[in-house]
Amino acid sequence: MNYYPDDIIEEVRLNNDLVEVVSEYVRLEKKGGGYFGLCPFHSEKTPSFHVEPVKQLYYCFGCNNGGNVFHFIMNIENLTFPDALRFLADRAGIVLPEPDDKEEQQRIKVRKRILEINRVAARFFYSCLATGKGSEALKYLRNRGLSNSIIKRFGIGYAPNEWDLLSNYLLKEGFDETILIQSGLSIKNKYDRLIDRFRGRIMFPIFDIRGNIVAFGGRVIDDSLPKYINSPETPCYSKGRELFGMHIAKKSAEKKLLLVEGYMDVISLHQAGIDFAVAPLGTALTGMQGRLLKKYSDEIILAYDSDTAGQKATERGLEVLNNLGCRVKVLQIPDGKDPDDFIRKNGPEKFKMLIDRAISLLEYKIGLLKRMHPSDTEESRLDFLNGVADLLSELDNFMEREIIIRKISSDYNITEDALHAEVDRRLKKKRRREKTTEFYSAKKELTGSVRPLSVGKNEGARIRYEKMLLTLLCRENRLYQKVKDRYLPSDYSDDSLKEMAAALYDKLKTGDDFLLEEYISKLAPGMASSMIHLSKNLSNIEEPEKALEDILQKLEVLKLEEEKKDILMRLKNISNIEEKKQLQKQLQSVIRKMSNI
Ligand code: UTP
Ligand code: MN
Repeated sequence: MNYYPDDIIEEVRLNNDLVEVVSEYVRLEKKGGGYFGLCPFHSEKTPSFHVEPVKQLYYCFGCNNGGNVFHFIMNIENLTFPDALRFLADRAGIVLPEPDDKEEQQRIKVRKRILEINRVAARFFYSCLATGKGSEALKYLRNRGLSNSIIKRFGIGYAPNEWDLLSNYLLKEGFDETILIQSGLSIKNKYDRLIDRFRGRIMFPIFDIRGNIVAFGGRVIDDSLPKYINSPETPCYSKGRELFGMHIAKKSAEKKLLLVEGYMDVISLHQAGIDFAVAPLGTALTGMQGRLLKKYSDEIILAYDSDTAGQKATERGLEVLNNLGCRVKVLQIPDGKDPDDFIRKNGPEKFKMLIDRAISLLEYKIGLLKRMHPSDTEESRLDFLNGVADLLSELDNFMEREIIIRKISSDYNITEDALHAEVDRRLKKKRRREKTTEFYSAKKELTGSVRPLSVGKNEGARIRYEKMLLTLLCRENRLYQKVKDRYLPSDYSDDSLKEMAAALYDKLKTGDDFLLEEYISKLAPGMASSMIHLSKNLSNIEEPEKALEDILQKLEVLKLEEEKKDILMRLKNISNIEEKKQLQKQLQSVIRKMSNI
């Protein structure tokens, strides 16, 4: 894992405050000396995810996930360590040196090469659209109202309907077959022949936020299926990570973003002067896309189709964005149309009016409730009103609550007081519930954990104590003097622990301080979690010397027991008398040592 020098890793860690980083993903609340929030790694209703600002460590009491800022990013962005390091270096504006690891250098090279080949391919598609081969495609785009300048702005092109036009061109340009396939531009057909993935399609380059072309979407120019073919996932592209149009929308003067469903909606909106429209790439909105939206806007307006699929997508999008703490609104397009249809029929100005009239999340939910409970019976009227009280009790804006209460009570002919009373009752109940949770979280924290050492339930006792020893050494560096001759790195029972111990001992030998939060930077997430879990238990220890003595003794006993087991095994399989005697002697010595402890 040694791609980068330790001091660079430490610099990146220190320049990314864990509380700030976590806050980009989780709504944190200050409690005591730390912060609590809903864990992003498992589903829960009451917060058990804890961040310690001083130690710069996080830990979830519910699912035992824990670590420092690197583990958090590795887990939440699903990245390897080098990628998480690069991600956080970027975030802090730190330029990383070239890694000295061969594999990592190779990966970086492949990524660069894919971006190059994509750019060359995009230029090829663009020029095909202008020449005779693309005349029909150009006519199609014209019919849909696209101007030359918008075609240029989005780099729209055409992949002619031939087998290997692009592949041959790319080979001639000096790209090799491997990269053609890795980029997803070419595929091998069943006769092992290299052919183009996109044939006879209008090509939409997909740009990442920095303006690199990371993938393509290709649309047919008739009614044949599939309507779109998209690039596969590559080392440069993951469809849940990008948003179509984001590289332009991020520069918009508006601080909002309009989320629509398709490529054509984005393009049509931009042509209409609405330059803050973006689309997910044919998938339900992911958390990663949500975070990108949040980063570049103050307000997100969902403008999905009003058909059933669009409504489903709206609800899912609202949920994702709301969990991230975004300000969200919903734009409703009349008559089940998509934004592109609407603009072509009614013009940009009418669409801008729809944007101004976008409703809040609460109004949207009340609308859904209304449809669910049409007030034709007294009972359904009551269900609706109770539902409204539920929604209002979740709302933290008093003014908005007041406005809604006034409106609903007049529409439904009940007193404002009655609705207020119902909301208050729910709020009181909620507060009571929160108090209890707070109590349990605090209690869990004080006792380290409800189930001590549950992380290691299935691992051997020896490994558990060895991890404890390492954790204790990080906490109390001075104890190294007592450990160094009694339990050596080579005594550890597993290779990764041997390696970890060697690194720790080396550092402590020089007299340098070494903190757990720094030490675990390069540990795999599972290992980091269990070390932090242990450190929670060890943090209540009042006499570290005594704890150390206990741990060392346990380890010595366990080590001897394993030796004994090993000798007994060997004795069973041995016939040579001399060797047998030798082993029996060893056994005696082990047993003597054991009784001495
Ligand atoms: P739409 O069918 O709404 O496409 O799918 P569109 O962009 O509005 O295209 P037009 O107006 O019919 O020309 C919405 C999005 O879903 C993805 C694409 O990202 C598309 O933009 N999709 C759709 C696919 O990936 N594959 C498909 O076969 C269809
Ligand atoms: Mn469409």
